[in-house]
Amino acid sequence: MDTLKWIDETTAQLPEGAFLMVKGNPMTIGWGQFGILWRTLCATVYVRHSRYTHELLEDCDTFTISVPDPGAMKQELAFCGTKSGRDFDKCKEINRSLVPAVYGAQDGLEGCRYQIECKILHRSELDISLLEDPAIIDRHYRSGDTHTMYIGQVLGVTEFSSCKKSH
Ligand SMILES: Cc1cc2nc3c(=O)[nH]c(=O)nc-3n(C[C@H](O)[C@H](O)[C@H](O)COP(=O)(O)O)c2cc1C
Repeated sequence: MDTLKWIDETTAQLPEGAFLMVKGNPMTIGWGQFGILWRTLCATVYVRHSRYTHELLEDCDTFTISVPDPGAMKQELAFCGTKSGRDFDKCKEINRSLVPAVYGAQDGLEGCRYQIECKILHRSELDISLLEDPAIIDRHYRSGDTHTMYIGQVLGVTEFSSCKKSH
């Protein structure tokens, strides 16, 4: 698996959305980074306190990011980015099954290009009092609904193309 390729393609897709998978609940995410920390390849995601996913992560030590092909799964991303798993079985609503985890993290979502499986190494609150640009608080945190940051070790990535898996 070409690490730079999946990081590059995932980073390009994030503004359109990817699915953060926790306990079978897909939540659309647009924020995230990949890089080296503690000599380990890590993925970082940010989840607001109000999300059902936040609740699910409270007693979970892994997450998985399922990344669609460019331009694909727009309706699914919109649904999973506006509806909560508290109110819907989102997989059922978007008519997608789960793809079993390959590296022991969370199951991914059917129909995506990459399945990035991560083990949480660190979780912390994003302290908005430390933000140096007040415009960011104004733009993103007026409601007070702040983010928890989850740094996960990348356990492994599976690429799916026409149902073919490569590691
Ligand atoms: C394109 C897009 C990107 C999003 N990115 C994030 C994100 O990075 N973090 C977050 O907490 N919510 C993000 N959201 C909002 C959640 O996906 C949305 O509130 C979702 O309904 C929460 O689902 P849940 O309650 O099942 O966890 C995003 C929504 C969209 C449409």
